[in-house]
Amino acid sequence: MLVLGIESSCDETAAAVVRDGREIMSSVISSQIDLHTLYGGVVPELASREHLAKIGPVIDQSLAEAGTQLSSISAIAVTQGPGLVGSLLVGVCYAKALAYGLSIPLVGVNHIEGHVYSVVFENPQVEYPAMALIVSGGHTNIFYIPQEGSYKVVSRTRDDAAGEAFDKVAKMLGLEYPGGPAIEKLARSGDPQAVKFTRPKISDGRPDFSFSGMKTAVSRYLKENEIDPALPGEEPGRPIKDLAASFQSSAVSLLVETMAKLAEEHRPRTLIVAGGVACNLALREMAEEAARNLGVPVYFPSKHLSTDNAAMIAAAGYAHLAQGRSSEMNMTADVTLRLQNLENEDAELRKRKVRYRL
Ligand code: KG4
Ligand code: ZN
Repeated sequence: MLVLGIESSCDETAAAVVRDGREIMSSVISSQIDLHTLYGGVVPELASREHLAKIGPVIDQSLAEAGTQLSSISAIAVTQGPGLVGSLLVGVCYAKALAYGLSIPLVGVNHIEGHVYSVVFENPQVEYPAMALIVSGGHTNIFYIPQEGSYKVVSRTRDDAAGEAFDKVAKMLGLEYPGGPAIEKLARSGDPQAVKFTRPKISDGRPDFSFSGMKTAVSRYLKENEIDPALPGEEPGRPIKDLAASFQSSAVSLLVETMAKLAEEHRPRTLIVAGGVACNLALREMAEEAARNLGVPVYFPSKHLSTDNAAMIAAAGYAHLAQGRSSEMNMTADVTLRLQNLENEDAELRKRKVRYRL
């Protein structure tokens, strides 16, 4: 069964053809990084215009590379949310039109669930219960997954996503966008012990993340030590390298130690680490060590599947179809779509947020 996946939630227009939920026949990604680099971050209006221009050619290319045509596609899976509304709508409208025209099922997929499924192509079958750390530019969550398709948020960020923190710190240090790869590169020649970051304290004691304090610590350190960020094209100095290494080490250990603590509590049979930040080698090494100590396997997607792509959306869509689930034609983009099936947990999370703010 061939599923055509479509992803347009942020700054990548992507399409992929996946056979039986596990075999990638093609995966085409048109990145807008060069466009947004000029502004140091994603500009929503520009992103949606670019998606409009690229979506047709990207889908055509994905079909051609898979050696197939629309008439052989059995279902369309598309990112329904969360993401930027204008960007999401481009993918959703295109997917609906295709599914309607071809009279085949349409499946709206949660982007974060897509990241969970990004590990299915290169790893053994995931054994449940599983635990997934999803770390990207827009999301930082740990999910407990008692069985396939059922998610419970056991940790989340109270402010910035981890990737967002990497991007903002990189900007402060004068590095290019996206900041994650730039910080990782610089961190290799810096001292991770040079600057001490205090661990964020969450007032209600929940195992949640907070990255805004780390960002402020970097900004304060730059000011107090009168360190000027690197100019474009300039080799950053030793203090900037040390700051990059210390920030990375601090952010990565916060992520992995929290996951390890929650894994001890929930005893999953598999750990999953995915999302753009999962490209980070320091994160992978530390997660591998934590998994060894816990005696469970940890699965990562390779780099091209860690960042946004449509193969993961097709794989998640296939899983929905296998469970007999598809979307109605009145499905639409949902900017704040949540990945959890426990209704009252939603209310509980909102309460927690208010308490934290007070
Ligand atoms: O999953 P993704 O492509 O898009 C979102 O859904 O957000 O993730 C992009 C994020 C960016 O914030 C980027 O800086 C971060 O992933 N990232 C990294 C690395 N590569 C990408 N962060 C840390 N280290 C990396 N090597
Ligand atoms: Zn993503």
